[in-house]
Amino acid sequence: MIAPVKIVGIGEGLPKQIVTNKMMEQIVETSDEWITQRTGIRQRYILTDDNVVSISVDASKKAIEKAGLSAQDIGLIVASTLASDYRIPSLAGCVQRDLEISDCPAFDVSAGCTGFIYALVTAASLMETLHVDTALVLAGEGVSKNINWSDRSTCVLFGDGAGAIVLKRDSVGTIHYPILMGRSDRENTLTIKNKDDHTPWYQYPQEQNTKLVMKGREVFTFASEVLADTLNRLKEQCGDKPFTKIIPHQANSRIIEYVCRTTGFTHDQFFLNLSQYANTSSASILLALWDAYKQGWLAPGDRLALIGFGSGLTWGGVVVDWTLES
Ligand SMILES: CC(C)(COP(=O)(O)OP(=O)(O)OC[C@H]1O[C@@H](n2cnc3c(N)ncnc32)[C@H](O)[C@@H]1OP(=O)(O)O)[C@@H](O)C(=O)NCCC(=O)NCCS
Repeated sequence: MIAPVKIVGIGEGLPKQIVTNKMMEQIVETSDEWITQRTGIRQRYILTDDNVVSISVDASKKAIEKAGLSAQDIGLIVASTLASDYRIPSLAGCVQRDLEISDCPAFDVSAGCTGFIYALVTAASLMETLHVDTALVLAGEGVSKNINWSDRSTCVLFGDGAGAIVLKRDSVGTIHYPILMGRSDRENTLTIKNKDDHTPWYQYPQEQNTKLVMKGREVFTFASEVLADTLNRLKEQCGDKPFTKIIPHQANSRIIEYVCRTTGFTHDQFFLNLSQYANTSSASILLALWDAYKQGWLAPGDRLALIGFGSGLTWGGVVVDWTLES
């Protein structure tokens, strides 16, 4: 059971550089047609002279403003990232510094593309434990810095971006049925290895691939399986008050098509915006939530499922009763 909290603010932050599929054709042997048909992606945002911290700060600032609060009202910051600008301080710590948020707990979670779901459940739980009234939950991703730009099987799939929400304790709970799961990835289906620097006592091997490596088909199978399973589990838990809308991690539109074919869920229940952003890892659910809210696809009274899946392997989901007015 999760503490009674509600989402009172939401915001997004994006790099200024848009890279279309046509532009990708100049970089690797690919085509707009291949990318669109196999993934649903048409363009992505890529960091240039902006950075993960700056887009995360943008998103957080907007979310706090939308909540009608000031930075000093925030009592907890939980950020998700797989590729921030620094190892230390944490992304949460950088946002705290740049927004001049007063002393409060601030840390990152690392759960691949499921990171936002992990961050949300962690923040909501800690708000109860630590008696915190208002929390900032964000995801900021700069996956482009960890991509092998000559590997066409991965470089066309990812983009950069950030999103944030503000949570406030309330008398009525709006976030329900948290599921957080992990499974050991013995096959290394999705990895980014850190660079090992030599020490005086050990010479690490010269050849080290420190870019994203993915077994696409295996990830596809895993993602389809856990997305369907999580949807069914959440549906069961909701009983006679089912969710009608779904915001999944935005990885590949064919994963959604597959899940629609193998479950009773229909395509129009899913909000997808990956054509515009590609896969922004743990920021993707937040960017979709933002667009769904901004476009009026979400309205107060809606019950929706948020579901993430990714490296780890990890997956998870929650049901949210949406209350935020446009
Ligand atoms: C990556 C993915 C799109 C590849 O699609 P696929 O249908 O499995 O394609 P394959 O990997 O079998 O490759 C088919 C062919 O397309 C080629 N290809 C791969 N990337 C290409 C690209 N960008 N442009 C053109 N051709 C490409 C391959 O080389 C292969 O050619 P071959 O048949 O001559 O060997 C798909 O597996 C996928 O979406 N997986 C999940 C990825 C994901 O969501 N990851 C993040 C999870 S958080």
